[in-house]
Amino acid sequence: MADKATLTIDGQSYEFPIITGTEQERAIDIKTLRGATGGVTTIDPGYKNTGSCQSAITFLDGEEGILRYRGYAIEALAEKASFLEVAYLLIFGELPTQVQLDKFDKDIKAESHVDEDMKKILDGFPKSAHPMGVLSALTSALIAFNPSSVNVDSEEDMYRTIVKLLAKFPVLAAWAMRKKKSQPLDYGDNSLGYVENLHKMMFAKPNEEYKVDKAVIDALDKLLILHADHEQNCSTSTVRMVGSSHAGLFASISSGICALWGPLHGGANQAVIEMLESIKEDGGDTKKYMAKAKDKEDPFRLMGFGHRVYKNFDPRAKIIKVAADDVLNQLGIEDPVLDIAKGLEKEALEDSYFVDRKLYPNVDFYSGIIYRALDIPVEMFTVMFALGRLPGWIAQWKEMRENKEPIGRPRQVYTGENFREFKEVSKR
Ligand code: SDX
Repeated sequence: MADKATLTIDGQSYEFPIITGTEQERAIDIKTLRGATGGVTTIDPGYKNTGSCQSAITFLDGEEGILRYRGYAIEALAEKASFLEVAYLLIFGELPTQVQLDKFDKDIKAESHVDEDMKKILDGFPKSAHPMGVLSALTSALIAFNPSSVNVDSEEDMYRTIVKLLAKFPVLAAWAMRKKKSQPLDYGDNSLGYVENLHKMMFAKPNEEYKVDKAVIDALDKLLILHADHEQNCSTSTVRMVGSSHAGLFASISSGICALWGPLHGGANQAVIEMLESIKEDGGDTKKYMAKAKDKEDPFRLMGFGHRVYKNFDPRAKIIKVAADDVLNQLGIEDPVLDIAKGLEKEALEDSYFVDRKLYPNVDFYSGIIYRALDIPVEMFTVMFALGRLPGWIAQWKEMRENKEPIGRPRQVYTGENFREFKEVSKR
């Protein structure tokens, strides 16, 4: 296959190298385009055809429905690994030995305290505040209490900062939920595993002994793994962009949380349940909502459907759909919205509007049904997504800094006014 691309502008030809990735993806390297052509650039709204970086972390094949973290298939990791193992894999590139995993766990536990004064910031929020806004603010506020986390000039600095964030982020997420539910904040228990401790901080009752429910923890662990990374999605690209200015890790992650909040991205898991609930309230008439989703005059979209990259199926959605059935059976829960979701998926798979546009359930379509079965409030669903995505964001940020990537600064095509003389207000 060709290793060069030729572009002809005004009769002049320009050659650009074609780079090939380890999975044979090819990209035209246009680093020299503007200089070589005297100012011509490219434009690609939403970056649908534009790569921002070369990365060794996650591989997606949208046509084949493949997702791999550092070469390991998501199906194997979801089945056999723990979330902490996957976090280590994404961040450091290899599955940890038992010794490495034990040290990682110990180092994280040693950093799991959060400064008491952070509670004053939490207290300042109204109970009505959305937990994603609280989480983003508290993550940014962590900088003030950990000033050494900003400049990560050495491997030790980087490791210590990463461990601090992995340790404190679940505490802040749990605090956001307990604030919402007007419950006292919980400090966790370092004798528990990472995901068990997260669940305890979220759900432990002050007047009862916390008991680990293995089915619940296993479901949560699997969901966090499935959300852990997804190459250059909107929030990860935000984390890389903010980090490219050498803003610290905590500031970059705080920005990523805000990008994930949007209903077209991670906020979709909350929007899916709200949509399914409204369909249920409306008598379960899925055909009516399918028609609305196809009506260009109607702003309604089938939330949890469609994906920028997956044009076949989202492998995560397939795993979560099976897990939803398992978890509800194990917990003895009947949730009518699961049947509505399955009905919508079946109808969409037989409807040319969705088939022609290659719109299939994505990671957000079924995940909320499990979160709900685990008694997680709907406004916390996207926080759960952020908890899962944290190691991926960290890994991508670390890669961007280690590769010494330049500050992100896209070009534009200006379409505004040509030069105009200033006019005094009396003459306007
Ligand atoms: C995530 O990027 C990632 O990797 C993200 C993520 C991750 O792990 O980080 O996978 C997580 O964000 C999953 C996506 C969650 N969002 C939703 O479920 C919201 C609903 N989905 C859509 O808004 C949409 O599908 C997107 C945002 C996911 C993708 O949008 P694109 O790639 O920009 O596609 P598009 O909007 O250009 O749509 C193409 C066509 C359009 O119709 P036409 O103009 O061609 O006639 O498909 C239609 C769209 O109107 N369409 C939908 C639809 N999604 C796309 N029509 C109805 N319902 C939908 N859900």
